[in-house]
Amino acid sequence: ATTLGASAQQSGRYFGTAVAANKLSDSTYVGILNREFDMVTAENEMKIDATEPNQNQFSFGNADRIVNHAISQGKRVRGHTLAWYSQQPGWMQRMEGSALRQAMINHITQVASYYKGKIYAWDVVNEAFADGSSGGRRDSNLQRTGNDWIEVAFRTARAADPNAKLCYNDYNTDDWTHAKTQGVYRMVQDFKQRGVPIDCVGFQSHFNPQSPVPSNYQTTLQNFANLGVDVQITELDIEGSGSAQAQNYQRVTQACLAVARCAGITVWGIRDSDSWRSSGTPLLFDGSGNKKAAYTAVLDAL
Ligand code: XIL
Repeated sequence: ATTLGASAQQSGRYFGTAVAANKLSDSTYVGILNREFDMVTAENEMKIDATEPNQNQFSFGNADRIVNHAISQGKRVRGHTLAWYSQQPGWMQRMEGSALRQAMINHITQVASYYKGKIYAWDVVNEAFADGSSGGRRDSNLQRTGNDWIEVAFRTARAADPNAKLCYNDYNTDDWTHAKTQGVYRMVQDFKQRGVPIDCVGFQSHFNPQSPVPSNYQTTLQNFANLGVDVQITELDIEGSGSAQAQNYQRVTQACLAVARCAGITVWGIRDSDSWRSSGTPLLFDGSGNKKAAYTAVLDAL
């Protein structure tokens, strides 16, 4: 096939991108989006600060713009994200304890119910584990409500939208030997053993020279899949250019294709100029919307 989405579909997978609502009026951007991708993640518009700017007052306008565009174009949507330490509205940042726990539950219930039936998979909890060698949880106001906050979030999301896949999503969990990877693995293993509803693990996969594609990336994906969950590459971008960048993109694509339960790949933006990385050229299309070597390498690997 001649597009990323159609090529991914040949093996039952998807190929997605992050989308920003304020770029839906950019015809070059929308042209590439409509042509190449069959899955969409809102880059910021479904985060807590966007959807609940004031407590119990929900705001879905920008998220709806993205969801409606995706659905009208026959694309599916990944929901991102229901519970996260970052991009919380001010009112939530100032909360703690049982009030915060209740606010989290209400947020998940309201947002997942609003989008019920429209979301392929939710990143229920994002980035809850610490970097470094501890393998433990990241400190946050949510974590301080009690260690069970993650399973409560998953159970709440399942009750609100029983047909959405429920994912745990994080970064620096790509190298099998890292303590953070092991910590997330043990949590998923525990959830599966105790019947906490979890269907998928998202690997953000923001790679750069300090944090390159690890040699054991495929092993990591396979080991998580062996727990009985799908794995998804959820926010892929790779710093670099030319053939070195293309080879890294190809390796990531091949790793997903080699793991039966790797459901699909999402890149974190369309053109280099759309990237959240202020400098650099980490995406598949250049600033003018031309296909890069990395694009061809991915398409060839799919
Ligand atoms: C980023 C967005 O791309 C930026 O526009 C925003 O300013 C900050 O968040 N991990 C995640 C994503 O899960 O939500 C982040 O997205 C990138 C890192």
